This record gives sequence, C-alpha cells and structure tokens, in this order.
Amino acid sequence: MSLYLVTGGAGFIGSHLATELVQRGHRVRVLDNLSTGHRRNLAHLPAVDFLEGDLADIEACRQAVQGVDYVLHQGAIPSVPRSVSDPITSNRSNIDGSLNILVAARDAKVKRLVYAGSSSAYGDTPTLPKREDMPTAPLSPYALQKLVAEQYCQMFTRLYGLETVTIRYFNVFGPRQDPGSPYSGVISLFSTALLEGRRPTVYGDGEQTRDFTYVANVVDGVLRACEAPEASGEVINVATGGRISLNDLLRAMNTILGTSIEPIYAESRVGDVRDSQADIRKAERLLGYHPIVSMEEGIRRTLDWCREESSATVRA
Ligand code: UD1
Repeated sequence: MSLYLVTGGAGFIGSHLATELVQRGHRVRVLDNLSTGHRRNLAHLPAVDFLEGDLADIEACRQAVQGVDYVLHQGAIPSVPRSVSDPITSNRSNIDGSLNILVAARDAKVKRLVYAGSSSAYGDTPTLPKREDMPTAPLSPYALQKLVAEQYCQMFTRLYGLETVTIRYFNVFGPRQDPGSPYSGVISLFSTALLEGRRPTVYGDGEQTRDFTYVANVVDGVLRACEAPEASGEVINVATGGRISLNDLLRAMNTILGTSIEPIYAESRVGDVRDSQADIRKAERLLGYHPIVSMEEGIRRTLDWCREESSATVRA
C-alpha cells in the first residue's frame, strides 16, 4: 500500500485517479483549491485525505507531499480559450504551481512525480500522428504553460534526480467533466446540449479532428507510469491513436441518442488546433499501455452519466 498525492484531485481526471487508487487499496491525499474542482467529485471516497490549498502556495505543497510515495500532478487551470482571455491566472497555476510541487516533491524525496501534459504542445505542425520527438509549436498560453511545466519536470530529473514522467493527454472526456462551464471539453458540452434538446455550437467548419480519449484509458496510463522502470524523464502520449471530426462526433452522438439535432456554426476559436492524433507506440513500449475503452463506449458512458446527473438535479 502506497501513499499517492493527487494534485487537482477534486477535478475531473484527478477524481478518477483517486477512485481507481482507492479501489486498488492505496492511500490517497488530494490537494485542490476548488477553483475548477468540486468536493462532490470525491463524495464517494470518504477515506481520501482532502487538503484545500493552492499549488501557488509553496507551504501548501510542502505539507501535501509529506510521507508521499507518488505525486500525480493534475492540478491546473485547463482550457485554451480561458488562457487566451486570462493568461496570467492560468500561468500562475500551470507554471508557478508546477514548479512549487516539483520543489516540494524533490525535497520530500518522493519516488516519482507523474505530470499531466497536453497534446496542445504539438500545435499545428503538419505531420500526423504526433510522435513525442516531433517539434512542439504551442498556439495558446495554455499550450505553452503545459509545455514549460513538462520541461521543468525533465529538468528536475536531470538536475536533481527526481523521477518524473509526463503523460501528454489528448482531449480526455468522461463522467464528471463539468458541463456547467463554457470552458468545458466539447463532448461534455455536446452531451448536455443534445440531452436538453438544444443545438450545440460548433466553432469553425466542424472538420477539425481530435483523438478523443475516454478517461479510464488515461487513468490506466498514468498509474502504469508510476512504476514503469524505463519511463523516468520521458514524455509519453496517452490516447487512442485515432481521430474524428467534430461533425462526425456529433453525428455519432445523435445516432446513439436517436436524435438528429443540427449544430449552430460559429467563428473558429483563436488558438485552436486544426488536427490532433497521437502516435501511441511509445506508451505501448514503455508502459505496456493499450486503450481499454473505445471512444464509442466512452461516449455511451458519458451520456448515461449526464442523464443521471440531470435527473438527480430535477429530483433535488
Ligand atoms: C485542448 C487540448 C487538450 C487539453 C484541453 C484542455 C489540443 C489538441 N487539445 O483541447 O489536450 O486537454 O485543451 O482544455 O490542443 N468546440 C466546439 N464547440 C464547443 C466547444 C469546443 O466546436 O462548444 C471545438 C473547439 O473549438 C475545438 C474542439 O471543439 O476545435 C475541442 O475543444 P475542447 O474540448 O475545448 O478541447 P481543445 O481545445 O481541443
């Protein structure tokens, strides 16, 4: 039994990691400032040691890493458009906060820190699928911040011998992704719109593509990265290896629901990437990772969750 610290553990991906760790019999501590996460995401996990605190506060980080074996650093302010409209707030969390947790983890001699990187680091470089050794070209403050923090991770491995692994996530979706925020992931926004009989908004022509990854795949990849002997100091894509356009995504969701709701097309978002698809061979090689839940199955589970949430809200 090990002690894991999940930063951002009250958020979408962090709460799934916490759930799986508890199921595997581990002890879990969460550090979260509840800026985008919610206590209710951990309500089913009473054994989790919850610390409300900010990554930008080094003392909160030092307290959180005490006695910890592994740090799963998920805490961040996500969303490309949010970072475009307010780059300073996201910088403070995504870069300053990451540096603080790295320093605290180094000083507390944790075994390994696994960092939530982002596919946005690749930007609009022409080659698909994206391999980890390809050049990066961040198009937004969010993409740049995520890239700087992964480089900090690699530097901490080289300079101080702190074992770090960056997992580059590709458009993760699933239950508990907050549909209440306009900055939420597109699948959660489409799900709530379709279930409420509203027309979803598509930014641009809808022909942009993404490697949408159901959250259980990411949880599996991150937990493998904690122990994989050859992963330290590495950057590794975790995704499905496929891609789908937003128009096709919407068609697939309409088919599952038996609806035929047309979107409203709006101006493309500034800082948006055109196409994104991961090469996952490095994850297969170093982590023994293979996607366990397909996009279609993930969409079904997400829609089921959204339905339950809305009926729970109606009952309350
Ligand atoms: C980016 C990153 C992703 C990261 C996420 C964090 C890329 C390729 N991916 O996701 O790894 O986890 O930021 O926030 O950079 N859209 C609509 N209608 C909507 C909402 C979004 O059409 O209501 C469009 C967007 O313009 C975009 C696509 O859907 O083209 C996906 O958007 P979103 O889910 O916000 O994620 P990315 O910005 O792709």
